[in-house]
Amino acid sequence: MPDPLRLGIAGLGTVGAGVARIVAAHPDLIAARAGRPVTIAAVSARTRGKDRGVDLSAYPWEDDPVALARRNDVDVLVELMGGEDGPALAAVEAALAAGKDVVTANKALLAHHGQRLAETAETAGAAIRFEAAVAGGIPVVKALTEGLAGNRVTRVMGVMNGTCNYILTRMETAGLPYEEVFAEADALGYLEADPQLDVGGIDAGHKLSLLAAIAFGTKVSFGAVELEGIGRIAIEDIRQAADMGYRIKLLGVAQMTGRGLEQRMSPCLVPADSPLGQLQGGTNMVVIEGDSVGQIVLRGPGAGQGPTASAVMADVIDLARGIRVPVFGRPAASLADPVPAKAAAPASYYLRMTLMDKPGALAKVATVLGEAGVSIDRMRQYGHAEADAAPVLIVTHKTMREALDHAIRGFAATGVVVGQPVALRIEDV
Ligand code: HSE
Repeated sequence: MPDPLRLGIAGLGTVGAGVARIVAAHPDLIAARAGRPVTIAAVSARTRGKDRGVDLSAYPWEDDPVALARRNDVDVLVELMGGEDGPALAAVEAALAAGKDVVTANKALLAHHGQRLAETAETAGAAIRFEAAVAGGIPVVKALTEGLAGNRVTRVMGVMNGTCNYILTRMETAGLPYEEVFAEADALGYLEADPQLDVGGIDAGHKLSLLAAIAFGTKVSFGAVELEGIGRIAIEDIRQAADMGYRIKLLGVAQMTGRGLEQRMSPCLVPADSPLGQLQGGTNMVVIEGDSVGQIVLRGPGAGQGPTASAVMADVIDLARGIRVPVFGRPAASLADPVPAKAAAPASYYLRMTLMDKPGALAKVATVLGEAGVSIDRMRQYGHAEADAAPVLIVTHKTMREALDHAIRGFAATGVVVGQPVALRIEDV
């Protein structure tokens, strides 16, 4: 039997314990697929005594993940601590400095340091694998780097934060306001320690930036992702979008256009009967479009012990098989500096506002839109209890966001728009 591949697992939270569970549960299956046994040489975490639901007592313990990465009996560092800097970065750097491969679920780390770490790894002849960092159990990194390697990718889209999708679908199905569902998600333990990572779109933005690098052969540029979270979505938006045949999703879109690379993570309307519109609860979906393959849709669990550990093990088994693919699908030194598109491609927009209910109010709003070059496609005014304020919904024809924003700024001078309008992009999916 060939030598085993020996793992050092840094981080024994849900995912780390899940990896240990799979290694213990399926040693023969893994060895058969990998062509050699996969073993755990040592583990490391912040707290030693905790019950993690899996027996780790047989594995040597390291308090310091950097020491774990440097151990002579560790071939691969499995980094499952999380965090864009700190111990995760230090341990990964230590492993790469020793020429060791790294498997990580850490999207924040790679979104911020991916280019430098990939160059370091490839110079050292080491690999960094990160299937578990994007959309949990969905093998999307492998799909892009390998399965679709013969395509020129034209667009990658996805719902890649299960917590946000849970919140938005629960708002719709239970008719509850954002704040109430956010509190529910918190009580269920769905939110990251810093909830802004979820509801601010940051976590999903990290994931999108990694997929964009692979899809378009550009350096990871998380700083260029246009980010907007779901905190401003009101139950009225969900209801009115549904009334017009749409659902609201925190949607990531990356596409290379003549104006440069677009990367957006923002709440968008998508047709309710599209695969993205049908996506319920905490599930993730990634849609990839390539010039030869057309469109493919990948759907599955984006988080949780089993799905994320499943993705980690797929990377581990590839390394054990000797499969070595450049970190972002082509040599890191050849990745281009992306030119960020200054503006998103034209789209139709959903515009919700409250108008003073008096003669000429709608005409004033329509005039401001017209003067900004924004054409109205559909418009509805809803029945309202208040005598003096009317909820109005407008769907525009395709327009540049800049023109719409110009019009929205112009609404202030009409004296008939109450509060701040909500504008959401309607994505062609
Ligand atoms: N918090 C993430 C989500 C999982 O809700 O999808 C980890 O990225």
